[in-house]
Amino acid sequence: MQSIDDVRHALLAKVVTSDNPRDILKAAEIKALYSKLVTLDPSERGAYGKAVNDLKVALEAAIVAREAALDDETVQSLDVTAPWDVNTGPVGLLPTEQGTQHPLTKELEVVIDIFTRMGFAAIESRQIDDDFHMFETLNFPKDHPARDGYDTFRTEEDFIPPAHTSTMQHRILKDGKAKLEAGGQIASVSYGRVFRNEDVDATHEHTFYQCEGVFVSETATLADMLGTLQAFFEAYYGQTLKIKTQPAYFPFVEPGLEFVIEKPAALGGKTGEWLEMLGCGMIHPNVLRAAEIDPAKYQGFAWGGGIERLVMLKYGIEDLRYFESGKLAFLRKFVS
Ligand code: PHE
Repeated sequence: MQSIDDVRHALLAKVVTSDNPRDILKAAEIKALYSKLVTLDPSERGAYGKAVNDLKVALEAAIVAREAALDDETVQSLDVTAPWDVNTGPVGLLPTEQGTQHPLTKELEVVIDIFTRMGFAAIESRQIDDDFHMFETLNFPKDHPARDGYDTFRTEEDFIPPAHTSTMQHRILKDGKAKLEAGGQIASVSYGRVFRNEDVDATHEHTFYQCEGVFVSETATLADMLGTLQAFFEAYYGQTLKIKTQPAYFPFVEPGLEFVIEKPAALGGKTGEWLEMLGCGMIHPNVLRAAEIDPAKYQGFAWGGGIERLVMLKYGIEDLRYFESGKLAFLRKFVS
């Protein structure tokens, strides 16, 4: 005859692997313990009966836990990607609607495709960064007022959700230095989500997307940059465009410019209607120096701008807030 402790150990071990744990309450071992109870001297029965009862309480708790675990296993084995109601299964049901790519993701892929065909490598930007990459290596001295222009969020630990994709410039330059010194050139675009503490309206969002280019060689010129950007915009809008520049200030480029295109007639523009598309310029010597690239030998250009603005012009979207709204009526217009 097994002791109560032996029975407890054996049955609890069975519960955790059983598919029908509740059946274990009817185990022969338990029946044997009860049969023994009536054979005991009445003075021992109280303590013995309580011990058997404690065993049943422990077993019951283990059974409830095992049943919950079995339920979880059933849920985990559901195929959450199945295009039908997961509770009733596919029988007699039409598949429900399938999701599609978000319009910004789709357009970003078009943008990246154009630049990679020009020979640029593409890397995704970070969604959390630091003061070093956001400001220091981009020639923003400490306490410089230009820092305020970026309305940066900061975490309590002093990390920064980047306010522009320029936070990738230092990394690209450092990584490309060896290639440059071996006679090659740096040609990269970085793209991703950026964040600013903005009051949201039809043309401002706290979260948006940018694409940034960096090119460095021994001979890069401003004319190369303007040619690259014009070729990009003409490819993206599928037509020839008039371009111009106007002066702008960004501490990490010198000279700094805004790149402006004439709004195409095909997209509802009138002659002489100009649109600022992005910021650009020749990379500041201090930014090259921070990456240990000799500005006396190498020069480069950089540009960066919002993806939403490009897409809004292409499709005549009048409110920037639609992109982050999750409005199905808006998103469905981009299903192809
Ligand atoms: N990072 C700048 C902005 O978001 C744009 C820019 C990028 C300007 C690269 C010059 C060179 O405002």
